[in-house]
Amino acid sequence: MAIDLLLGLQWGDEGKGKIVDVLTKKYDIIARFQGGPNAGHTLEFEGIKHVLHTIPSGVFHPKAINLVGNGVVIDPVIFKKELENLDPFGIDVRNSLLVSRKAHLILPTHRLLDAASEIAKGKAKIGSTLKGIGPTYMDKTGRNGLRVGDIELPNWKETYQTLRDKHLIMIKNMKVDLDFSIKELEKSFFDAVDYMSSTLTFVDSEEYLSIAQKNGKNILAEGAQGSLLDIDFGTYPFVTSSNTTAAGACTGLGIAPNRIGNVFGIFKAYTTRVGSGPFPTELFDDIGETMGRVGHEFGATTGRARRCGWLDLVALKYAVEINGVTQLMMMKGDVLSGFDELKVCTAYTYRGKTITHLPYSLNPEELTPQYTTLPCWKEDLTAMRNESEFPKNFNDYIAFIENFIEVPIQIVSVGPDRSQTIFRSPE
Ligand code: GDP
Ligand code: IMO
Ligand code: MG
Repeated sequence: MAIDLLLGLQWGDEGKGKIVDVLTKKYDIIARFQGGPNAGHTLEFEGIKHVLHTIPSGVFHPKAINLVGNGVVIDPVIFKKELENLDPFGIDVRNSLLVSRKAHLILPTHRLLDAASEIAKGKAKIGSTLKGIGPTYMDKTGRNGLRVGDIELPNWKETYQTLRDKHLIMIKNMKVDLDFSIKELEKSFFDAVDYMSSTLTFVDSEEYLSIAQKNGKNILAEGAQGSLLDIDFGTYPFVTSSNTTAAGACTGLGIAPNRIGNVFGIFKAYTTRVGSGPFPTELFDDIGETMGRVGHEFGATTGRARRCGWLDLVALKYAVEINGVTQLMMMKGDVLSGFDELKVCTAYTYRGKTITHLPYSLNPEELTPQYTTLPCWKEDLTAMRNESEFPKNFNDYIAFIENFIEVPIQIVSVGPDRSQTIFRSPE
């Protein structure tokens, strides 16, 4: 069986968690392939809201296996808290949650290095989630990292201490003001590592997935962050430290490109971004403020207010190309109800010329968006359960996007709950 991928096409928080949860009934295995606790994936059903950071979003389906792949970086302390939050739901994590031995661990000192690096950058800071993501991937590519498989070995604490000591020297040399007690941080780290070892099953996940595929299992790879935060193709340096795009699923799970089937690309009907970095269609007026308020645009991991703006179709098309998206999913159209009119960016003015691609630099002094104005709709979409109920102007908005991007929108989401998900019938 082919492996399907689900990815965010903007700057994260598109609604990946919700859609993975909705789609899980069609899959046997849900596998996260990159990122770590910088992710915050929200699921809502039966009146309860769950936020997952490391655990794949299929975890509430009793028959699904959830796998944390080798491309993910794991903070044992955060992972333990997430597992404890699942306790009331009686989920058999020993059998349904598998962790790759090749996944790297986030050490307490990785988090400190993340904070120190942001302080040192001053105004140029990335706006990192401060979860230690960048420093952990740096140790991975620098060939110094500590992996899940290491904690099964007798001498892992020596490897840990060598790395910790190196980090402490680095932090000292950075000469920034950081207040911490390494003893306290280590206590909770070691407790959490023990908890992980005693609660979870560690696997050679590339082999596990290869066998599952041969046995005809349906597998969905769940992305974190979004394509514009990709380390290679995002708005560098204001990006995360992993490949959030389709290629990241190959390296982050050990699956070959020719095994990939559908690529589901998720986007919001407008755009948001949390943290620093360019955002050509950002709104600084009442409209942006209304989007943030109505859409509850606050980070699921950090609580920070998300910056809001119009849908950028040029950037969306770029992300669709990079990922080979076969089907689109549009989220949060309900948030736009009631505006006087809507704008979508269909080109940029860049150094005085009109362009329709994403240029190397998104410097606002050189680049301004060109908009097409579309009519809005007044109707509340949140109670709609069938596309036949959609108002004309909403259908026209969808059609405009499909025509521009040249990929069909298969799912339209009109609210945070599982039930507020509409599958469109093919033309
Ligand atoms: P993720 O990181 O891609 O999983 O997305 P987040 O969970 O960080 O952010 C998406 C937010 O939008 C969450 O609070 C969801 O509950 C919410 N959400 C998802 N889909 C919809 C939708 O169609 N309409 C509205 N109003 N909210 C939605
Ligand atoms: P999900 O999976 C939105 C952003 C941070 C910062 C930049 C780098 O929920 O969509 P990092 O901590 O990775 O070094 O931060 O990336 N960022 C996200 N923004 N959603 C996310 O994940 C994000 N993960 C990281 O705000 O700008
Ligand atoms: Mg999120």
